[in-house]
Amino acid sequence: MKNKPRSVIVTGASSGIGKEIARVFVRNKIHVVACSRKWTKLKSVISHRDENYMYYHPYKIDVGNLTGTKKAFSEISKKFTVYGLVNNAGITAFKTAVDHTEKEIENILKVNLFGAIHLTKFTLPGMLKRNEGIILNILSVAAKNVFTNSSVYSASKAGLLAYMNVVREEVKESNIKIINILPGATATPIWPDKALNNFAGRMMTAEDVAEFVFTVFNMNSTVVPEEIVIRPVHGDL
Ligand SMILES: NC(=O)c1ccc[n+]([C@@H]2O[C@H](COP(=O)([O-])OP(=O)(O)OC[C@H]3O[C@@H](n4cnc5c(N)ncnc54)[C@H](OP(=O)(O)O)[C@@H]3O)[C@@H](O)[C@H]2O)c1
Repeated sequence: MKNKPRSVIVTGASSGIGKEIARVFVRNKIHVVACSRKWTKLKSVISHRDENYMYYHPYKIDVGNLTGTKKAFSEISKKFTVYGLVNNAGITAFKTAVDHTEKEIENILKVNLFGAIHLTKFTLPGMLKRNEGIILNILSVAAKNVFTNSSVYSASKAGLLAYMNVVREEVKESNIKIINILPGATATPIWPDKALNNFAGRMMTAEDVAEFVFTVFNMNSTVVPEEIVIRPVHGDL
């Protein structure tokens, strides 16, 4: 297909930070291929009555499922020129290393680490061919700092940080920017209700994080912000 719209894939776009990232990109007339598992939530991120609805393209994808993700990416790349990828989808379970079930361990690594690695692998060949691209990763301060009850989550984020730092070196000559953002606590449904009830007022809002992400993503300059830590004004919880 000729003249395919230039688009950015945003994973985990049905909720929290990813939803707000999709909204701010669409508001700025950037085509967003918005991915997550829950179709009804994903569909409602942008109202079909919104003047910028034409920029919103929801796709039901479970990034933890390699076969499905590969098939979906192949369909997406036939319709869109993917010049940006925001690896945002993420899950956790606030438990000690001992209490984590084997299934939880597998799921967290599948979604947070393997999902982002696979989508990056699928997206890069097109970017390399066109000699342009931006891959922005929503990691976490837990990639570097110690938070108990977050061992597997921290491993997934630290693993992706290490992976992306290597990928940057491999693709930088092709004008592909790899940007790692490490946010601190943000008020989203990833937190248990009790934590939100007690601490939401001390957390960043998903809207503020998304605005920041958009500013960084949209920098049309010779600068690449390789790694940025953002925290609530009052610091970690
Ligand atoms: N909130 C914080 O304090 C905080 C701090 C640092 C970093 N982060 C990171 O920010 C990112 C977004 O988290 P959030 O706080 O916005 O949480 P959230 O509100 O729970 O959103 C998580 C998103 O990930 C999607 N998702 C989960 N499993 C998926 C899968 N298998 N395939 C595709 N999409 C999947 C969810 O959509 P579906 O359920 O529809 O699939 C949802 O859209 C995560 O990577 C998280 O680690 C969050």
